[in-house]
Amino acid sequence: MTETIMAITGPTSGIGRGTVKNLIHDFDRILLLARNLEKAAYLKQELLELNPEVQIEIIECDLSVLDSVRQAAENIKYKYDHLDCLINNAGIVSTSKEESVDGYDLMMATNYIGHFLLTHELLPLVMNSERKQVVVVSSGAYKFAPMKKPFFKPKRFNAFAGYGRSKLGTLYLAQELHEKYSRKGLKTTAVHPGMVSTNIGKSNVSPTVAGLVFKLLDPFFVTVEEGCQSVVKAVRQPEKYAGFYSDEGEIAAVKQYGSDFQMRREFIDATLEELDLEAL
Ligand SMILES: NC(=O)c1ccc[n+]([C@@H]2O[C@H](COP(=O)([O-])OP(=O)(O)OC[C@H]3O[C@@H](n4cnc5c(N)ncnc54)[C@H](OP(=O)(O)O)[C@@H]3O)[C@@H](O)[C@H]2O)c1
Repeated sequence: MTETIMAITGPTSGIGRGTVKNLIHDFDRILLLARNLEKAAYLKQELLELNPEVQIEIIECDLSVLDSVRQAAENIKYKYDHLDCLINNAGIVSTSKEESVDGYDLMMATNYIGHFLLTHELLPLVMNSERKQVVVVSSGAYKFAPMKKPFFKPKRFNAFAGYGRSKLGTLYLAQELHEKYSRKGLKTTAVHPGMVSTNIGKSNVSPTVAGLVFKLLDPFFVTVEEGCQSVVKAVRQPEKYAGFYSDEGEIAAVKQYGSDFQMRREFIDATLEELDLEAL
C-alpha cells in the first residue's frame, strides 16, 4: 500500500500544533515545515510519544523568505513523488510596519506569498496522490478590508487591514485551487478556526501589553484544542468540505471582498507575475 503523507506549515505552535497532534494517527508520514528547528525537534519527540509508528520529518522552511520556501519544496520533491494532504497554516500578525527579506509586507509575505509559492511547487505531488487535498487556514479577518494596490508592498501600514488582506489572499488561493483543479480531483477547503488563544500577535508586543489585551479578550477566545477541530474536521472529511469555506466547522457563505471575482483574478495574476510563474 502507498504511504500516506501529510505536510503542515506552522506546526510548532497554536492551531498547527493542535492539528498535528490530533492527526497523529491519520497519516503514515508527517512533514513538519518549520522555521525554528529546535521547536520542531521538541514537537517531533512529543508526536512520537503519541504514535511511535508514525514517520516524522522536519523540513526547514521560513515562509517569509522565497528562497527558503523554494528549498523546502525542492527537498520534499527530491524525496517524495506524492503528497496526500498539504495544510497551509503558518501565520503572523505584525503590529508595526515590517518588511520581508524579499521586500514585501511581512504579513503578506508569510501568510500569503510564501504559501502561494509552496502550494505551486507542491501541487504536482498533491495531484499525484490518492487523496489530493489542500487545507488553507484562512480567517474571518478576510472581511476586514478590500484588496488594494500595490498588493504586496503597501505604502501605509495598518495592522487590521494588512492582516485582513493577507488572509483574503489565502482565501483567494483556496478558491483559485478549487476552480482550477477540482475537476481533476483536488479537494480544497479554507478554514476560519474561530478566535483561538494562541501565540499569534504576541511575540512582537511586550509581554505586559500582550497579557493585558489577551486577558481582556479572553472570554471570546476558545482553547487551541477546540480551535484546531475545524481544521481537523476539514482534513478528515475532504469530500464534505471540498470547495467550501468552513467557519468553525460549519460550511459558510463567503461574503464581501471574498466573493469579488474580478479582484481575485487581478490579485492572483499579480502574484503569478511577481513570482515569475506562468500558472498556479
Ligand atoms: N488564533 C486565532 O484566533 C486565529 C483566527 C483565525 C485564523 N488564524 C490563523 O491560524 C493560523 C495559525 O495561527 P495561530 O493562531 O496558531 O498562531 P501561532 O500560535 O502564533 O502559530 C503560528 C505558527 O506559524 C509559524 N510561523 C510564523 N511565521 C513563520 C514563518 N515566517 N515561517 C514559518 N513558520 C512561521 C510559527 O512558527 P514559530 O513557532 O517558529 O513561531 C507557528 O508555528 C494562522 O494562519 C492564523 O492567521 C488564527
